[in-house]
Amino acid sequence: MAKSKATSAFFCQNCGYESSKWMGQCPACHTWNSFVEERITKSQVSSSGSGKIKPAGNVKPVELKEISGQKEERFATGIEEFDRVLGGGIVPGSLTLVGGDPGIGKSTLLLQVCKRLAEADKEVLYISGEESLTQIKMRADRIGEFREHFKLLTEVNLGVISDVVRNAGPEIVVIDSIQTMYNEEVNAAPGSVSQVRESTSVLLQLAKVENIAILIVGHVTKEGTVAGPRVLEHMVDTVLYFEGDKQDIYRILRGVKNRFGSTNEIGVFEMGESGLAEVKNPSEFLISGKPEGASGSVVACTMEGTRPMLLEVQALVCDTNFQIPRRQATGCDFNRMNLLIAVIEKRMRMPLGREDAYVNFAGGMRIFEPATDLAVVMALVSSFRNKPVPDDMLVFGEVGLSGEVRGVSMAKQRVMEARKLGFKSCVVPFANARQLMDIQDITIHTVKNIMEAIALISD
Ligand code: TYD
Ligand code: MG
Repeated sequence: MAKSKATSAFFCQNCGYESSKWMGQCPACHTWNSFVEERITKSQVSSSGSGKIKPAGNVKPVELKEISGQKEERFATGIEEFDRVLGGGIVPGSLTLVGGDPGIGKSTLLLQVCKRLAEADKEVLYISGEESLTQIKMRADRIGEFREHFKLLTEVNLGVISDVVRNAGPEIVVIDSIQTMYNEEVNAAPGSVSQVRESTSVLLQLAKVENIAILIVGHVTKEGTVAGPRVLEHMVDTVLYFEGDKQDIYRILRGVKNRFGSTNEIGVFEMGESGLAEVKNPSEFLISGKPEGASGSVVACTMEGTRPMLLEVQALVCDTNFQIPRRQATGCDFNRMNLLIAVIEKRMRMPLGREDAYVNFAGGMRIFEPATDLAVVMALVSSFRNKPVPDDMLVFGEVGLSGEVRGVSMAKQRVMEARKLGFKSCVVPFANARQLMDIQDITIHTVKNIMEAIALISD
């Protein structure tokens, strides 16, 4: 039985936690002062807990064996960096959330995706609640010439949007952005947690019932999460984050959740005069600014999904002027850096206790793969001793607490990437030696512990 009930509740504006009372701190995400009262009007279906059980009627479970297992159809956009992150393209009937800081390029990316899909004769509808038609047209002009099959709508009322979508019957819909959308049945301001959640559930229905692929833009709060992220992330099929330094021209599209593919893949773009361009070889740009012959600079290799990426690890170690030495990590895990410093102190007997230490992964990437450990260790020691590591040397390996260097996955791909970019030697874990036996044109130094690795730079 459905009944309509108007109530109000308090929602944490950071994570969407719902409470009947106001609270100073959210018990779920521990943010202070984040609760706001929102009125909610929901039609509630009486649960089976009321004692009445709904008769099953004709509802029957299906034999798994009998479900035809056709391969999923996907709309490939032809933008490789985008398709790869999605696992091959947009799945019809799926709901995708594209999150990111304001101004990072979400609208630009989706406009370019729409352009490609329209060119592939897909019916595309772009709904904006943020910009006027002229503003969108101005952006579209920078990107290129649009042909037919691409329609625009400026609207924020979801009731109207649902009707238009049902009548127009597009295959792909973009909602820019979810924070501007408004569902009349919910008595809360656009952008509030309950409004965002209810709007998303309307879109979810629309996607599944009409079999339309819907892409939703979501702005990220200053804490780095989409407003009401938990509710949103659970509801949608795929969550992509578009990140990068706004001052920098490089942008990274990262899959955080994907019901139709892996979440390890990333896409790299470059923001230019005419929109976003794909960066097909990110290693090149990540190590492009590496100083020559400088101490404390080491090239490491990390895997992003199936893709090897070289990056420059920088360390600066200098005498401290403070009671407690300063330690700072940019792009890498702070605790991991401290642990590696402790390993160096203990195993190499190097007095780093009176030294400030800074570690930076150049290029604005955030990487937490242990395979970069050995490069961090070598960069720290190189800076401490003021002895450079050869510029054409690649270093990778996980470092354990006894100073041992442990094997990593996909060692061969990493070495091949280095060879492709003209590196002359690689320092690799001994455990990976066998996989690398047949690689030519590059010198492989296998090491069992950090002492052996350091020996390669200390003359
Ligand atoms: P936009 O897609 O509007 O960001 P979002 O939707 O995530 O808020 O991107 C805005 C920024 O991108 C803006 O600062 C201008 C820049 N830009 C370019 O540098 N080149 C271009 O061709 C376009 C379209 C935008
Ligand atoms: Mg935008």
